[in-house]
Amino acid sequence: MSNPIEQIRGEALQSLASVTDSETLAAWRGKFLGRRGAVGKLFGQIGSLPQAERAAFGQQVNALQAELDAAFDARETLIQSQAMARDLEEGDIDISLPARPRRRGGLHPSTRTHREFQAIWADMGFHVYQSRDVEEDELNFSLLNLPPHHPARDMQDTFYTADSRVLLRTHTSPGQIRAMRELGAGGSKPIRVILPGMCYRQEQITARSEIQFTQVEGLAIGRNIRMSDLKGTIAEFAKRMYSPEAKVRFRASYFPFTEPSMEVDVECFLCGGEGCRVCKYTGWLEIAGSGMVHPTVLRNGGYDPSEWSGFAFGMGPERITMLKHGIQDIRYFWSNDLRFLQQF
Ligand code: DAH
Repeated sequence: MSNPIEQIRGEALQSLASVTDSETLAAWRGKFLGRRGAVGKLFGQIGSLPQAERAAFGQQVNALQAELDAAFDARETLIQSQAMARDLEEGDIDISLPARPRRRGGLHPSTRTHREFQAIWADMGFHVYQSRDVEEDELNFSLLNLPPHHPARDMQDTFYTADSRVLLRTHTSPGQIRAMRELGAGGSKPIRVILPGMCYRQEQITARSEIQFTQVEGLAIGRNIRMSDLKGTIAEFAKRMYSPEAKVRFRASYFPFTEPSMEVDVECFLCGGEGCRVCKYTGWLEIAGSGMVHPTVLRNGGYDPSEWSGFAFGMGPERITMLKHGIQDIRYFWSNDLRFLQQF
């Protein structure tokens, strides 16, 4: 008796050689490679063979299937290129027609602002330090000078995990401790980093507040870093981010992890400081919290505050993106509505 595998192989390859159109090709595939096709039947026979012959037979059927798959692909390519050549010759394809525009995906508006931030800070000598979203309570609060029961903890309603020592970070500031400990080499090296990332707060979701949002934290540690460095650095950032004429102002404020602390405003870039609805007729827009790193925080990061000093700041890219594009509702950012996303 002739070998059934060889027989099917011969039959398949012979009939494939005369296939010249894609319908016949599809029928060929069904006949030999389909679920109930000839090769499938061979697989079905394996079970009825004597145990000793099964492995060898199975291997041969596998090899046949691979060979026929490859032959199919080659034939398909050939038929397609012949059809294309024919259409070109008969003039069915008009190669002078303009191409149909293809819709490309776009970058999320927050991603765009983030990249803009990163490029500007990179030019100014800050590299990116990626901290973590799931953080320890100790770093998110205590080591930043917010001990348990500190009233400022109430400003940041927190998502805790089942383990109450672990939470979703409420701000990017805990990354300051990680960066100092990891990059500072035991408090002996200067640092200049930005720390971008998602933050989470258990808040009522409204047009102005979301339970998730991004921040970009900045941190510079060195010997003799002074408040004038902070002011000059932020003013330079504003010039690069908004306009070469951008003016900034600093208002005294309070954050537990900085002393002194300041809020930073930039002259409203929508009305040029004249006063408009967006800046609530003040002529200024708040863009950052900032300050000189508190000595306790420096110590927690491994630095001796009598020799080292530093500044820090935190910015909210969503807010800046909203101002820039006149976006009225922060909920658009994470609702994945294409009608919103496609506008950027
Ligand atoms: N972590 C603060 C917040 O989420 C923002 C902030 C303020 C960060 C002052 C800083 C800073 O680094 O110096 O509200």
